[in-house]
Order: sequence, then C-alpha cells, then structure tokens
Amino acid sequence: MTLLDARQLVTKKVAELKDRVNKLSKKPSLVIIRVGEDFASGKYVSNKVKKCEEVGISSKIIHLDENISQDEVEKIIIDLNKAKDATGVLLQLPIPKHLNEDYLTNLIEDEKDVDGFTIGNMGKLSLNLEGNVACTPRGIMTLLKEFKIDMEGKDVLIINRSNIVGKPLSQLFLKENATVTIAHSKTKNLKEKIKASDIVVTAVGRNNFLSAQDFSNNTTIIDVSINFNEAGKMCGDVSKEDYDVIVNEKQCHLTPVPNGVGQMTVIELIEQTIEIAEKGES
Ligand code: GUN
Repeated sequence: MTLLDARQLVTKKVAELKDRVNKLSKKPSLVIIRVGEDFASGKYVSNKVKKCEEVGISSKIIHLDENISQDEVEKIIIDLNKAKDATGVLLQLPIPKHLNEDYLTNLIEDEKDVDGFTIGNMGKLSLNLEGNVACTPRGIMTLLKEFKIDMEGKDVLIINRSNIVGKPLSQLFLKENATVTIAHSKTKNLKEKIKASDIVVTAVGRNNFLSAQDFSNNTTIIDVSINFNEAGKMCGDVSKEDYDVIVNEKQCHLTPVPNGVGQMTVIELIEQTIEIAEKGES
C-alpha cells in the first residue's frame, strides 16, 4: 500500500490545463477578494496566484482594508458579477466578524462562484445537477480516482461537517455509491466507527488526533488538515511518526501532509475556473 502523494498528479494536471487554456480564445481570469490581514489567508491566496501563473491564466487579488463596510464589499461583488473579464470570483475566508460572511459568499453569481459555496451550487450538488463544486472535496475525489481506490459500496466516515468540506464531500461519495457517515464533536464511539470504515476522511485540525492503532488494516485515510507542530512543521491530523506503520504494516493508503489533499485544492480551483471559461465559449 502507499502514500497517496499528489505531486505527480498535480504536474500531470498542470500540463493538461495549460493545453486547455491554449485552446480558449480568451485567457480565463480568477479574481480573489481578500479582506484584512489573516496570515493563513495570505499564504493560501499567494499559492492560488502562483498556480494561476503556472497554468497560464490571469489572476487578480482585490485586497481590502480590515475595516471595509458590508455595503462596500457588496458593491465590489456586484460589479465583479457583471465584469466580462472576471471568469471566476472567490471571497477568501475567513473575513472580519463585522461582515456577513454567508450573505457575501452567496452574493457571488452561481456561474462565477468558483469555490462552489453559493446556495445555488450547494443545492445543485445535493440534487445531482451540474454546477460548481467545492474544491477540496473535488480534489479528494480526483485523488481517489487517480489511485483507483474503489468507493462503490464502501463504508466512508467523514470527520468534519463543514459547508466547505464535510457536507459537499458526503454528496460526492454518495454519487460514487458509497455509504457515508458524517462524524463531529458530539459523535459517540468515534474510535469504533473509524475501525469499522473502509475510507476515513479527517479534517479536525488537530495534530496527532489519529494514530496507527486507530485504523483497521487496509483502510484508505484522507487527511485534509493543515496544522503546524511545536517545531513549526506542517502536519495533518494523523501522527507523522506512524506513517510507516500505517502504510507498511497496516497496509493502508494515506494522503500525506504536506503533498496530499492541500495540493489538490488549488489545482481544482484553477480547473474549475477553466471549466467556467470553456462553458462560456461553447
Ligand atoms: N478558506 C479556507 N479554505 C478556503 C477555500 O477553499 N475557499 C475560500 N474562499 N476560503 C477558504
């Protein structure tokens, strides 16, 4: 069994996406709205911009002051909805507390909502209709398919119930005919549920939350979290010291952190931007 390392897949996808961009009559453009100075957001946004450059699409960051008013952000989004040169638009989260995150996220037009976070796109996903899909769940599916992990009829446990990860991911697993359980902080007998699952997705955000002894042999483990340990090193929810036992003794598949799911989220964001552009030209 193996570490499901995303790097080769990302390299392959970058090449494919470059080709698709070259076939378009107009370069797609991703507009990222960032409000305030959240440190992690700054890193995520610069990763997104770098990937746009690599694939050959345009990107623009609209970096707004921490104290900007709700009305002003609304106006910016409404203008971007009309702008011909904005293919995809996203509002980087979190945003300052005085702003209405749900309202602003949903104000982005469904077609331009490259994050797949609007009520329209979330609704389409749950009704099995075509729409934009949240990028981390999309990336997890791409990774599982690339490594030919069978999902049909499998027991899947997702330890996360967020609108960004757990809920949309549960819909994608259902589409693949898996049997899905969503666990959260109030879930009883979590360890038993983990042991009984064929596929475990963890997005808890706690270093060393899971170790080798928690998993049955042959489990596929998807670690979505990006945490930092005491030494400042990036890690997920699964103990790094246990990777070897998990993969070699327990014969599990495991997405590593770094170089796992995180790599996929950005590439899916770019792909979804290109898909929007392709639809616009067809
Ligand atoms: N903050 C953390 N993850 C995401 C994401 O996927 N999209 C946006 N817009 N903000 C985020």
